[in-house]
Amino acid sequence: MKRIIIKLVIITDFIAIYIGDDVMLDIKDKNIWRELLTTDNPELLEELYSSARIVQKEHYGNKIFARGLIEFTNYCKNDCYYCGIRRSNRDACRYRLTKEQILSCCDSGYKLGFRTFVLQGGEDGYYTDERLTDIVYSIKSRYPDCAITLSVGEKNRESYQKYFDAGADRYLLRHETANTDHYRLLHPQEMSCENRKRCLWDLKEIGYQVGAGIMVGSPGQTIEHILEDLEFMKELQPDMVGIGPFLPHHATPFANESAGTLDMTIRLLAITRLLLPEVLLPATTALGTLDPTGREKGVLAGANVVMPNLSPESVRENYLLYDNKLCTGSEAAEGLRMLDEMMKRIGYEISLDRGDRAGREVREWH
Ligand code: 5AD
Repeated sequence: MKRIIIKLVIITDFIAIYIGDDVMLDIKDKNIWRELLTTDNPELLEELYSSARIVQKEHYGNKIFARGLIEFTNYCKNDCYYCGIRRSNRDACRYRLTKEQILSCCDSGYKLGFRTFVLQGGEDGYYTDERLTDIVYSIKSRYPDCAITLSVGEKNRESYQKYFDAGADRYLLRHETANTDHYRLLHPQEMSCENRKRCLWDLKEIGYQVGAGIMVGSPGQTIEHILEDLEFMKELQPDMVGIGPFLPHHATPFANESAGTLDMTIRLLAITRLLLPEVLLPATTALGTLDPTGREKGVLAGANVVMPNLSPESVRENYLLYDNKLCTGSEAAEGLRMLDEMMKRIGYEISLDRGDRAGREVREWH
C-alpha cells in the first residue's frame, strides 16, 4: 500500500495540509479538522503541534501571559448538569466576596505584578448591575493600567454595556457547545444555545475582547459537535478561546460520566491556534488537574495564557466546578515563580503584561 504523506504547510495567513502529493486542503476546511481530530498517525500529530507552536511564536514569541483570577462568588441561579456550583448542589459551601475583599485581591495581585484581573463567578443576583459596575469602576480607577476581564454569565445587552462603560475590557463566556441538541443535554430547559450565542455577539458588538469556548469530552459530545464548535468560532472570531477537559463533579447528574482526555484537548488547542492564529488561548486549570503536566502540554500545543488563582485562600477550595481542582502551588498566584520555572523548562517565560490580543487596538479609559 502506498504510504500517504501528510504535511502541514504555513504560508503566512494560509495554512494548508497536503495529503499525498496533490490533495491540498485549507486549515479553514472542516475535513482537515476531522482528520486532525481523529488521526492516529503520530507524524501528523507532531506536525500539528509543531505548526501550532510556529504560529504561537510568530505572534507572541515565547511569552505566556498570566492573569490573576478572582473567583468572587460561587452562588449561581443556573443548574447546568456538569457544574459543581449549580444551584441544586446543596452541599456546596457558598460564599461571596465584598467589594473590599475583591479590591484587596487586586492589591495583592498588582504587587505580584499582574496587570489583568479576571472576575469570575456564578450567575449571582446579589451582584446587581449597580454593584458590579461599582466594583469594575473602583478597580479600574485604582489600576488604570490593568485590564479587567469579566466572566459572570448571560446578561442582557444593556448590562453588558454598563460593565463596559465602567471599564471592563474583556468578557469570557464559553458557548459550551454550538449544537442545540447537545446544548439541551448539558443544560436545563430554561437555558438555550441561542441565547448564549446572542450574548457573545452582543459582547462583540459592544467592543469587548470576547472569549468563547467548550469543555472537551462533555457527556454526549461527538466529533461532529466539535466540528460545529470550530465552525462557530471561525464565524465569531473570538479574541480568546477557553478549552479544557470536562471533569466530573460528584454532586452533579454527571457524577459518573467519564472525563475528557488530554489527547483530545491538546489536539483541539492546536487546531484552534491554527484556525485563529492570534487568539489568546489558556492552558486551563482543568487541564492541569487532569494531568500533572497538562498545562505544559497545552502550551506546547499552542496555548499562551495561564490563569493563577488570586482569590482569598479561605474561599479557594469552595469554588469547585469539578472534583480535585488544583488551587495551590503553581495554580496559585503566589506560585508565580514556580509557574515561571515550569514554563522556562519548556522554553517559554511568564509575562505579566496586560497581554491584549495581538493586533488588536486597545481603547483609552478615563
Ligand atoms: N468540568 C470542566 N469544566 C467545567 N466547567 C464547569 N463545570 C465543569 C466541569 N465539571 C467550565 C464551563 C464553564 C467554565 C467557567 O467552567 O465550561 O463555562
